[in-house]
Amino acid sequence: MRTAKIELLLQGIEERMRYELQMLIREFLPFAAFDAPVPDIRITIRQDQILWEENGVTQVRPVVLMEDHSADPLKNRIKSVLYDLLTGSTGYKVPWGTLTGVRPTKIAWSLLDLGFTPTEVKDHMQKAYRLSEDKADLMTRTAVRERSLMSDRSGNDVSVYIGIPFCPTRCAYCSFVSYDHRSYEKLSEAYMEALLHELEACAPMLQGRKLQSFYMGGGTPTTLQPAQMDRLLTAVDRIYGLDSFTERTVEAGRPDTIHPEILRVLKDHGIDRISINPQTMHQKTLDLIGRYHTVEDVVRAYELARKEGFDNINMDLILGLPEETVDDVSATMECVRALGPDSLTVHTLAIKRSSKFYQEDGEQDLVAQAPLIGEMIDISRKTAASMGLEPYYMYRQKNMAGNFENVGYSQPRKECLYNIEIMEERQSIVAFGAGGVSKIYYPTENRLERAPNVKNVSEYIARVDEMIERKRKELLHG
Ligand SMILES: C[S@@+](CC[C@H](N)C(=O)[O-])C[C@H]1O[C@@H](n2cnc3c(N)ncnc32)[C@H](O)[C@@H]1O
Ligand code: SF4
Repeated sequence: MRTAKIELLLQGIEERMRYELQMLIREFLPFAAFDAPVPDIRITIRQDQILWEENGVTQVRPVVLMEDHSADPLKNRIKSVLYDLLTGSTGYKVPWGTLTGVRPTKIAWSLLDLGFTPTEVKDHMQKAYRLSEDKADLMTRTAVRERSLMSDRSGNDVSVYIGIPFCPTRCAYCSFVSYDHRSYEKLSEAYMEALLHELEACAPMLQGRKLQSFYMGGGTPTTLQPAQMDRLLTAVDRIYGLDSFTERTVEAGRPDTIHPEILRVLKDHGIDRISINPQTMHQKTLDLIGRYHTVEDVVRAYELARKEGFDNINMDLILGLPEETVDDVSATMECVRALGPDSLTVHTLAIKRSSKFYQEDGEQDLVAQAPLIGEMIDISRKTAASMGLEPYYMYRQKNMAGNFENVGYSQPRKECLYNIEIMEERQSIVAFGAGGVSKIYYPTENRLERAPNVKNVSEYIARVDEMIERKRKELLHG
């Protein structure tokens, strides 16, 4: 049934709703084909009812409009009724209910803005959006913690992102902009020049704004030579003042790029948060996903960083990696607990079209993986809690194993504000470097405009002035 041919008829319903309804159907029936000539199921959506025709039997369900405090109550109501029909037909309950978007906590934020108590938000999410109790609780608790961390935001503050799109090797699951740092060694100097030019030229546009987060990500920033990193951070300090930011993160990421010299440069410039990412503590899996580093490298890099005095270290993990069992995840969690990072970001594997995984295996049956991933998520949540880490931001992606979520856990006061801002989209983020996407926030309209940089490194170098102009156009109005 996972390969069902479906005819989706919209009668008196705006065509723009089709994509979202198809996405919801695919959460239950991942291989649903919507253009097959002879359908197995015909679904007719009307404003007042939904008709479900399958095996010669027609079910009719009324759509009763209710106030749900959203911008589109009709759409939400149609999705809830369709959700119930899909559950009836497949016997499956999608944990995130009718929510197909990337940022579920945004809905909790808007309800809290309206004066709902956390208990009312949780209740509403279960009733109006069919969330499981567990997910409604996670989403509400996360939103409440995010809001307490963001309470002193002024509307005038801005964060700065720098992208370093080089990596030691390309991991099989990854779809981020990333170039092999050895083949691009010659270009890295030209990249640095372009980046410094972009940082300098945009400084006047940020005059008078309060600087919140400094975040260097990628790719793998620590593939830069220590002298290059020093030059870059010295320039950021001169132009913006690294001390003016509330927090300063560098995503070191790959343990095989972490050595005493690069850590010292980061420490000397006052970088206060870094990540060292195992993804898994199983050597067999690391080899399978093309990480080309060892479990021992993770431990070595972590101990080095502690020795250099880093007291805010994050670790990224991925659940649902190929051939991993629940016991493998338990063992990874035990190793991570023994190391004791200050924060932990637990991702669920997402199969992105531009990743090697997709190119080799194509579409995956996400629903079939749900029970296994559900168990892994439970283990990760319990381990995080036993380490004193609480969820502080979360998001979802398309094509995630089991249709679950990514959760950032942290010790109190070790949260990364930048991660929250990226998800809640209530602050301007100015991005530098290839693939960086600036997001300019207009607080009075609660609206965001994007100004993307090109992803290709050579093109970025050649067109950096155009990237500066794109930002100028937006920033002078935002
Ligand atoms: C931008 S990546 C950079 C991290 C760094 N270069 C590294 O590899 O350690 C940030 C994180 O996203 C997660 N990630 C990337 N692709 C993913 C995917 N397809 N599914 C789930 N998580 C993914 C990984 O945990 C990764 O550490
Ligand atoms: S996961 Fe990190 S190291 Fe691997 S390719 Fe992506 S950005 Fe590079």
